Amino acid sequence: MSICKLLVSLLLSVCGHALSTSAWSVNNFLMTGPKAYLTYASSVQVGARKGIEECKHQFAWDRWNCPESALQLSTHSGARRGTREAAFVHAISAAGVMHALTKNCSMGELSQCGCDDSNVGKMGGRGWMWGGCSDNVDFGENISKQFVDALENGHDARAAVNLHNNEAGRLAVRATMKRACKCHGVSGSCNMQTCWMQLAEFRDVGNYLKVKHDQAQMLEMDKRRVRAGNSADNRGALADAFSSIARTELIYLEDSPDYCARNLSLGLHGTEGRECLQNSDSLSQWERRSCRRLCHECGLRVEQRRVETSSSCNCKFNWCCTVTCDTCTQVVTKYYCAKRNKGRRSKNGTRRRQHTRKN
Ligand SMILES: *[C@@H]1O[C@H](CO)[C@@H](O)[C@H](O)[C@H]1NC(C)=O
Ligand SMILES: *[C@@H]1O[C@H](CO)[C@@H](O)[C@H](O)[C@H]1NC(C)=O
Ligand SMILES: *[C@@H]1O[C@H](CO)[C@@H](O)[C@H](O)[C@H]1NC(C)=O
Ligand SMILES: *[C@@H]1O[C@H](CO)[C@@H](O)[C@H](O)[C@H]1NC(C)=O
Repeated sequence: MSICKLLVSLLLSVCGHALSTSAWSVNNFLMTGPKAYLTYASSVQVGARKGIEECKHQFAWDRWNCPESALQLSTHSGARRGTREAAFVHAISAAGVMHALTKNCSMGELSQCGCDDSNVGKMGGRGWMWGGCSDNVDFGENISKQFVDALENGHDARAAVNLHNNEAGRLAVRATMKRACKCHGVSGSCNMQTCWMQLAEFRDVGNYLKVKHDQAQMLEMDKRRVRAGNSADNRGALADAFSSIARTELIYLEDSPDYCARNLSLGLHGTEGRECLQNSDSLSQWERRSCRRLCHECGLRVEQRRVETSSSCNCKFNWCCTVTCDTCTQVVTKYYCAKRNKGRRSKNGTRRRQHTRKN
């Protein structure tokens, strides 16, 4: 199933205007999904939404920036893309659902599950034993599988790749878990600790999967066997291709476009008009290079705009009990990718000379 169908199915609220056209798939999904799991539908949506928000954060300064409309369009155009970006969307959605459901579970919000206490009371290592409430990732993983994997109903390479990437996303939730401990013993001597496993912040899962995205591998299928076209050869070729890939790694089937140019029928927005960052000390190297990546390398120039922003300032506390503030406006410089001015680049000597003279 395409990314969008996945989104439409999981994010009824998000894909808002896509809903009318694709409502059948939502209903279809909810009606045919295992009844017992209807209980979790709203938490699943929260989790999938969290996944997409994280995607937007992780790709904020990439040429492809996790656009929702692009994801939606891919359903309608039937272009089921198997790019590494699609791999990331699958992984982060599956991870988001697992993370949210696991959190719900530990908060005691779901009657069907509770903490993972399978180790409680056992020694964990020197000076510590298992206790407390370990997050029940088995449960979250289970629900994520039931919902997210169920959307994949094909038996082709693409379905296999999507399922693999869903799984890699869930493994990322496990891989980023941390041990938390609490001290015991007379007057805080801490000679005994109890520890439990807890989920990392979802941001950590996002960072982890972004690295996996950067290192994603292309699934290499034996073309001769695929071309032979019979299903046994196909399955064999698929199994062989997967055998060399760890379950934790993201995989893709086709190379990505450069994402520079706009092509709405492919759901590509291009980078013209995108903001980029420069001239600030607090930027990471990746951010500092964003203007080069988004504008220059796409044949665009960087345009400076002076933008007025307003915010609260000079806030005073008045006895009792209000706070009053002024509104201060500040002019900041922002940078955007814009089309190159054709005149300046034209071979027309007259104009170029005029231009240089002006400077
Ligand atoms: C699960 O947690 C989310 C917030 O993370 C919340 O919006 C949702 O209502 C919770 N679900 C249940 C069933 O409590
Ligand atoms: C996971 O789901 C399976 C059924 O699909 C069930 O048998 C198992 O008990 C579930 N495990 C947890 C931890 O919920
Ligand atoms: C968009 O992509 C399609 C498919 O590759 C191509 O046929 C079409 O010409 C492109 N449109 C534009 C405006 O580049
Ligand atoms: C090139 O320069 C000539 C002479 O100044 C001018 O008439 C013409 O419009 C210019 N062409 C372009 C494409 O700028």
